[in-house]
Parts: sequence; structure tokens; C-alpha cells
Amino acid sequence: MLEKFERYPLTFGPTPIEKLSRLSEQLGGSVAIYAKREDCNSGLACGGNKIRKLEYIVPDAVASNADTLVTVGGVQSNHTRQVAAVAAKLGMKCRLVQESWAPFQDAVYDRVGNILMSRVMGADIEFADAGFDIGIRESWRRAIADVKAKGGKPYAIPAGASVHKYGGLGYVGFAEEVRSQEAAMGIRFDYVIVCTVTGSTHAGMLVGFAKDGRARKVIGIDASATPRRTRAQVLAIARNTAALIALGRDIAADDVILKETYAYPAYGVPSNETNEAIRLCARTEGMMTDPVYEGKSMQGLIDLVRKGFFPAGSKVLYAHLGGVPAIDAYSYFYKNG
Ligand SMILES: Cc1ncc(COP(=O)(O)O)c(C=O)c1O
Repeated sequence: MLEKFERYPLTFGPTPIEKLSRLSEQLGGSVAIYAKREDCNSGLACGGNKIRKLEYIVPDAVASNADTLVTVGGVQSNHTRQVAAVAAKLGMKCRLVQESWAPFQDAVYDRVGNILMSRVMGADIEFADAGFDIGIRESWRRAIADVKAKGGKPYAIPAGASVHKYGGLGYVGFAEEVRSQEAAMGIRFDYVIVCTVTGSTHAGMLVGFAKDGRARKVIGIDASATPRRTRAQVLAIARNTAALIALGRDIAADDVILKETYAYPAYGVPSNETNEAIRLCARTEGMMTDPVYEGKSMQGLIDLVRKGFFPAGSKVLYAHLGGVPAIDAYSYFYKNG
């Protein structure tokens, strides 16, 4: 599906799929849970889902002769950290705008975790006083203009690398990769669980799995707390991506399956249930998830299993998209474990 697109390798290769046997047992044993470890996909500053997306964006950046990657996210954005790492790897400069997306301030929120790494990797960081929004950001536009005004050649990457013409391609590749791993393992996953915020991870998967009739088996867990906007953005990116790869079938609004009830109390703030999910997964599998994204999709997965959403005997693939560095910025929640 992706043969005609140039890919700049930034990952180690296909990410491992591991069975989460103890978590499956803990949840009753009738559903087999597996994880695809996108959190271990690259040596670039802890990796994560943006690295897979950026593999299809970087060739365009290189071809444009840009010298500076410019992007935006929250203060503890995983995305901005991954763009900073890619810029360092390419020998480019990096300009990051960090907005106040999470209504949350641990004492060292702007010092540790993702932003710490971005600083160490040499990114030029500015803060912008704007709240959470998955759309095109004014602060980002201003940063792009500023790089130009100072004689630089910016390459613009939107929040989450999502609303970019090639933003959905990486996770089409994820679906292709899962299909070949399924063939090697002799199994077929009935559902895929994915955390959804800016939308291109879910959108790419949905298009990739549409090829074998599983678009609606991709279950997005909203962590944005603005699910109408996230749903619309997933649909728009999926349609754009389907056209780009000539999928040969339309993507319908009903193809976007998004569970909207786990993002509370707000984007970037974990609920008690999120923290319980993080602990359960960590204590049964030694697999760490974060309080902003993957802890919420883990919470959704656990709740859906407990509610009997998945028929007995189902094989469920949890896409672990990374994000653990942010947990350092939430130390108060975990001071007792
Ligand atoms: C760890 C992690 N999980 C999930 C997501 C959501 O992915 P997307 O923004 O493509 O919906 C992100 C980024 O926003 C992330 O950093």
C-alpha cells in the first residue's frame, strides 16, 4: 500500500508484539491481550508513535532543503521531543512551541521528562500561553514566520504530525506490519486498541486495516476530552490518506470508532481510574504507561474487557504508542507507587 512513498528509516524495524498473559489472566482470562511495542520502536530519544509517522514526512522535509523543523505541542509533548530527536539525527535545527495544554502543574512540570530531553537535544524552545487544541495553532504559524524572518528555512510539522499530507501513512504501515506478523504467528487479531488525540495514528490504522475489512475493529480511546474535534480530524485524515494511497474505497464516518468516556477529568490529567490502570499494567507486566495518553487507553482497554465488550476468545492488540517520559512530570500522583 505504501510502495510509491519514500520512507526515511528512523525506527529499528518492525516493532515486537508480546502477549500480556498476566494482565489477561488478571482480567478474567477470556480475552487474550497482546501489545505492539511502538514505545520501543527507535533509539531516537525513547521513540514513540511520531517516529513512525515522521519516516514518511522527513523525505519531504529533506527535499524542501529546510534547515529547521518547526512544530508545536503541550509542555510535556512527546511529539515535540520526537521531532527534536529527528532534527538532531538529520543535522537540522529545531524550533518548538510548547503551549499550556494540560491544566496541571507539578513543581517541575516544565523541567523534566520530554521537555528536558528536547532541551538537551538542542531544540530552541518557546512557551506560548494557549490551552489545548488539536488544530492549526497561531503560535506555530508565528514561529514558522519568525524562522523565515531570521533567514532560516523552516519545515512545518503540525501538532502530532497529524494534519500533514503524509501524516497518516506511518500507521498504514503499522497495519501492514501487523498483517505480516499475524501470518508469522499464525493468529489474527480481532481488535486493535489505540489512544486517539490529534488523530493520524488512528486514521492511518483505520485505512490500513480497511484493506482486510477491519477498519471498525480499530477501537480509538479518546484522550483529548474534545472528542467531536478528534473524531472529525480522524475522519478527515483517514479520507485524505485513503485517497493518497488509492485505497479504492471510501471511508465512512461510521468507520471511526472512538470511545469517548475515558478522557476525564481533562486532557493531560489522569483520573483515579487512569492511575489504577497504569499500576495494574505495571504490576502485572512491568509495562509502563503514561498519565496523558497510554494510561487512558489502558484504562479503556481494561474497562472494555471487564464490561464484556470483547466476545470470549477475542485476541486484542493494544498499540503501545510510547509517552512514558511524561510520567516524571506527574511524580506527585505516584509518590506512594
Ligand atoms: C504516547 C502517545 N499516545 C497517543 C498519542 C495520540 O496519537 P495521535 O495524536 O496521533 O492521535 C500521542 C500523541 O498525541 C502520544 O504521544
